[in-house]
Amino acid sequence: MGEVWIDAVLGSTEVEFAGFVEISDTVIRAQIERCDLDPRLIFRSLPEALDTVEADAVLLVTPPGFHKEMSFAALESGIPVLCEKPLGDNLESARAIVDKSDETGVLHMVAQNYRYKVPVQTVKMVLDSGEMGCVSSIEVIFYKGPHLLGFHQELPYPLLVDMSIHHFDLMRFFLGSEPVSLFAKSWNPTWSWHKGEASASAILEFENDVRATYTGSWCSTGLETTWIGNWRFDCENGVILLRDDQVYIQRRTNVIEDSSGYYHYAAEDVTQVPPAKLVRKEQSYLLHEFYEAVTQGKSPITTCQDNIKSFRIVSDLISSIESREVIYPDK
Ligand SMILES: NC(=O)c1ccc[n+]([C@@H]2O[C@H](COP(=O)([O-])OP(=O)(O)OC[C@H]3O[C@@H](n4cnc5c(N)ncnc54)[C@H](O)[C@@H]3O)[C@@H](O)[C@H]2O)c1
Repeated sequence: MGEVWIDAVLGSTEVEFAGFVEISDTVIRAQIERCDLDPRLIFRSLPEALDTVEADAVLLVTPPGFHKEMSFAALESGIPVLCEKPLGDNLESARAIVDKSDETGVLHMVAQNYRYKVPVQTVKMVLDSGEMGCVSSIEVIFYKGPHLLGFHQELPYPLLVDMSIHHFDLMRFFLGSEPVSLFAKSWNPTWSWHKGEASASAILEFENDVRATYTGSWCSTGLETTWIGNWRFDCENGVILLRDDQVYIQRRTNVIEDSSGYYHYAAEDVTQVPPAKLVRKEQSYLLHEFYEAVTQGKSPITTCQDNIKSFRIVSDLISSIESREVIYPDK
């Protein structure tokens, strides 16, 4: 993911590199060669880099287990952070980062790039237009089978912590509300190459009686979904479908009586929604938003103070799996 961020910065007219931190010689060599980086700007630790170069901000793209330590180093030096999701590797480290940002008054923003993907913004546009009325339920299906190495191997719940965080953050983004009860089960398929549990299903109840069901797997053997997954929104005036990164709607008509005397909604033809036109997407959007926050004091959307609510969903679902109970966040 560091590569993606290097490319985002190199492609930006607003931001430039003051230095890099990396502990792996192999990665250092590969990136020097790939991007013609200045080896004098590559450091072995963040404190060493911050002592040597002048930086206005830190982009944090280490595995989640290092997010707290690195965030603390930057925030305590008064330097804002744009940190990859997930905020921390557990709720305690995520909370500690929020507390440190509150205590120092220094911005800490989380990179939830899925919010700024075209299909997601297209759905959000339809929801915000109000034409489909209120949402009653959401169904999300996610199946991918990447053979990930590195830190994923050590996570007890790799799907939930490192992947589904995007989907749960999107639920909050789409609905503009928070869950009031959560229940989940997780398991590891017999063929799983993950040590931790790579599949999970969950039921979440949001404010206003909105239900979301989630089924995901990170060791799928075929017919994968896209990274966003397939989403169905059952709404007052019809259905919104996000399938294979395309968005469709089907509006209902008035109640009709059919030839058998049954009353039901008829439906109009399914139509495809034209993709949202975005000036900036994903990392380039986030980098721009972060730049404006740092230079102009604007408030970004995905601050750690907001993002901990997405992380809390993951943490509550894990509590539900381990306790086999429904979790009520407010109780
Ligand atoms: N938003 C997305 O779509 C997305 C996709 C993939 C990964 N990520 C996130 O990006 C982060 C990194 O994931 P990844 O898959 O690139 O991990 P990775 O293990 O492939 O790479 C991590 C890099 O950090 C370096 N590193 C590790 N500890 C370090 C330290 N203490 N100081 C400096 N460098 C250190 C490693 O040498 C490695 O080069 C994670 O938080 C992950 O969840 C986000």
